[in-house]
Amino acid sequence: MLDEIKRRRTFAIISHPDAGKTTLTEKLLLFGGQIQVAGAVKSNKIKKTATSDWMEIEKQRGISVTTSVMEFDYKQYKVNILDTPGHQDFAEDTFRTLTAVDSVIIVVDGAKGVEAQTRKLMEVCRMRNTPVIVYINKMDREGRDPFDLLDEIESELQIKVRPLSWPIEQGIRFKGVYNIYEEKLNLYQPSKQVVTEKVQVDINSKELDSNIGEALANKLRTDLELIDGVYTKFDVDDYLNANIAPVFFGSALNNFGVQELLDCFVEIAPSPRPVEAEEREVKPEEEKFTGFIFKITANIDPNHRSCVAFCKVCSGKFVRNAPYKHVRNGKTVRFSSPTQFMAQKKSTIEEAYPGDIIGLPDNGTFKIGDTLTEGEELHFKGLPSFSPEMFKYIENADPMKTKQLNKGVDQLMDEGVAQLFINQFNGRKLIGTVGQLQFEVIQYRLLNEYNAACRWEPLSLYKACWVESDNAEELEAFKKRKYQFMAKDREGRDVFLADSNYVLQMAQIDFKSIKFHFTSEF
Ligand code: G4P
Repeated sequence: MLDEIKRRRTFAIISHPDAGKTTLTEKLLLFGGQIQVAGAVKSNKIKKTATSDWMEIEKQRGISVTTSVMEFDYKQYKVNILDTPGHQDFAEDTFRTLTAVDSVIIVVDGAKGVEAQTRKLMEVCRMRNTPVIVYINKMDREGRDPFDLLDEIESELQIKVRPLSWPIEQGIRFKGVYNIYEEKLNLYQPSKQVVTEKVQVDINSKELDSNIGEALANKLRTDLELIDGVYTKFDVDDYLNANIAPVFFGSALNNFGVQELLDCFVEIAPSPRPVEAEEREVKPEEEKFTGFIFKITANIDPNHRSCVAFCKVCSGKFVRNAPYKHVRNGKTVRFSSPTQFMAQKKSTIEEAYPGDIIGLPDNGTFKIGDTLTEGEELHFKGLPSFSPEMFKYIENADPMKTKQLNKGVDQLMDEGVAQLFINQFNGRKLIGTVGQLQFEVIQYRLLNEYNAACRWEPLSLYKACWVESDNAEELEAFKKRKYQFMAKDREGRDVFLADSNYVLQMAQIDFKSIKFHFTSEF
């Protein structure tokens, strides 16, 4: 059991759209032997959308809406990659996926540097102390100076970095990467594209000069001296404690610097870590099975209208058909066809270990954050909801289908597609999302899965924030003053709908005892 836990590496690759996440994932799968040809992951994406109804939206827009899991064995390790949606409107999905990983690889576009989405995702990693490795991609393009990029990552992502590889030139002059971690020189052969030529040379040897020329060899030596002078020596514990992010350079498209990343990753990345529950900390090596649902995906297979709930195993061994307790509703559940996911197929499994992600068929019994145990009353802590950025009133467009609409909205909210608030002034339902696309997905799915029609009424709001205070009187006064802008979330908590940043700031000045929270857990 301990061996199984120790060999697992469960992580997510995150990036701003277009930085190269899909390409890198695909190359990792190549190394894992899961696919034989490059391009398979993308074609898989298209196939999926063609056979799945509601993902028509995805197809039309050429984006990946869903999150899936890919597993493969590499050396003695079992690698579980959690894929995240490639579109920023689905950032909330990615946030939740980050609750189920033990570490993260961040892909940064070498020409563009740190972009908005990366910054946001890093905030979530920081909240959870998730160890991160940075992969600076597209070094085969003219990009920025590597030192500048490192500075930008430190200041923008607020984490100390330590380069473990170093590029020798870039763009068309890109010669290769010096692997600082292994002290090896990896030369890039543009004509071969997929082959990485590894040459083991000592940094001070003449051989280095003959391989890359005297000028570049000297520059590399100076750069490496500078790196040793500026950055602290790499210490795995600093990385594991999320104090320092090792950085690799490469080009995913050209399969360059990818194996270096993977080799170092499996060696240093954490195996499943203890998980915090409200009651106690749960250790992976505990005998009894526990797990939680972090993601629910609808209708991957259009022939079966049921959903798949993704469960992360936190401790013990999961066994097919064994009775488990669904803690929220107290019921005993058994799973006869739990699945695991390979790059292009899924298969039924008999057992799973901490760190593994299993797919459980679901007919609306699960909500995001649900805990499964062998009987213990345990509640894993989820990721808080973030204040949505876009809001619309949801209107029933077919009065004969009110029931269907309510059911559909309820289930979609359970899946975590968006957040629902009820305006306390007019009693209207209001849906908050992080992007416009989610409104379209909701409308489409309500129609296709619940036979209910909805209409959206735009609403200009700046933010929804959760409010609380020790001073009950002042809270009441605030709610009275802002009665038109007060709402409740699904748990019945007070939410203030601020229509501008100014209004929010004034409220903060006028009501000093009130705390305004931008996440739902405080
Ligand atoms: P994403 O999942 O992060 O959104 O990015 P994705 O891998 O889809 O990559 C975005 C684009 O960047 C793709 O080009 C991809 O080929 C390109 N790319 C990825 N890695 C590298 C690299 O190392 N060097 C260079 N030069 N380009 C890279 P596209 O034109 O949008 O798609 P495609 O038609 O090539 O598939």
